[in-house]
Amino acid sequence: MPRNTRIKPLRSRGVRVTKAVIPAAGLGTRFLPATKAQPKEMLPVYDKPAIQYVVEEAVAAGIRDILIITGRGKQSIENHFDRSWELEENLRAHGKSRDLKIVREISSLVNMYFVRQKEALGLGHAVLCAKSFVGSEPFAVFLGDDIMDSRPPAISQLLDVWDAHQGPVLGVMEVPRELTRAYGIIRPKEMGEGLFRVEDLVEKPEPDKAPSQLGIVGRYILTPDLFEILEKTRAGRGGEIQLTDALRILKRRRPIYACALKGHRHDIGNKVEFVKATLAYALKDPEARASILAYARELVAEQD
Ligand code: UTP
Repeated sequence: MPRNTRIKPLRSRGVRVTKAVIPAAGLGTRFLPATKAQPKEMLPVYDKPAIQYVVEEAVAAGIRDILIITGRGKQSIENHFDRSWELEENLRAHGKSRDLKIVREISSLVNMYFVRQKEALGLGHAVLCAKSFVGSEPFAVFLGDDIMDSRPPAISQLLDVWDAHQGPVLGVMEVPRELTRAYGIIRPKEMGEGLFRVEDLVEKPEPDKAPSQLGIVGRYILTPDLFEILEKTRAGRGGEIQLTDALRILKRRRPIYACALKGHRHDIGNKVEFVKATLAYALKDPEARASILAYARELVAEQD
């Protein structure tokens, strides 16, 4: 499916973004013990692993090459996007053609590459692992535990800004003030509706120190000059190499933009948000909807 098909005058003159990086090597400590022996990115959100929604968003936006940053114990991600000959043969033998189609489609979505982050040193370090894959092109970053439910896809909203300005773009959303300590927060200068120039960025500020309530969420368009900065970035907040710290230095060299994303975000690395995401996607299934709503009503009645 082509991404947003509206014609923009600058699009044909600019560099196109065709590569994406999905960091998925984090330890998932907020979701223990579920994530002790399985990646949080593979937790099923209704009927698909979380990371499949992310890959489908990239494909819907016209991305053709995806690098997933994995780590120890994350082999199931690689297996999920590979062919499964034995399973396919079994489904074929039992005449389960619908299931066979679903299973096959996953491995034919896009060109998929994998690299291991040998130690979970932080998001900035995970992005640095993509240096050889990216080369000299701009690239999209999707966090593997952030599902964005939106039309047009969240990354297409950022690509529109890239097409117009040819500079790094951060996806942001308004977060409650008491939650600023969970996000990278920008100091915005409004350029237009939902479009900002980033004046400064702070990683996980306390609510009274936050320069705004615009939190960086799991979508970015980045440029390869960031790698040289990441190579020199030392561990910051939480002892991790932070992407926000590197972006702060990049901002001194070139303009960085932020786009207020429209749509619903599900941070499935958080248990409560994971349950909400599962419910939201289950309710989209016409075969499941009535039964789930009836059960929810039962649960609510029991609470009263
Ligand atoms: P998070 O901070 O949500 O992931 O990183 P985490 O560290 O796994 O989570 P908690 O806080 O311990 O529960 C956002 C994304 O960046 C990836 C994660 O896999 C997630 O998709 N990440 C994070 C890496 O790939 N490598 C890292 O070193 C850290």
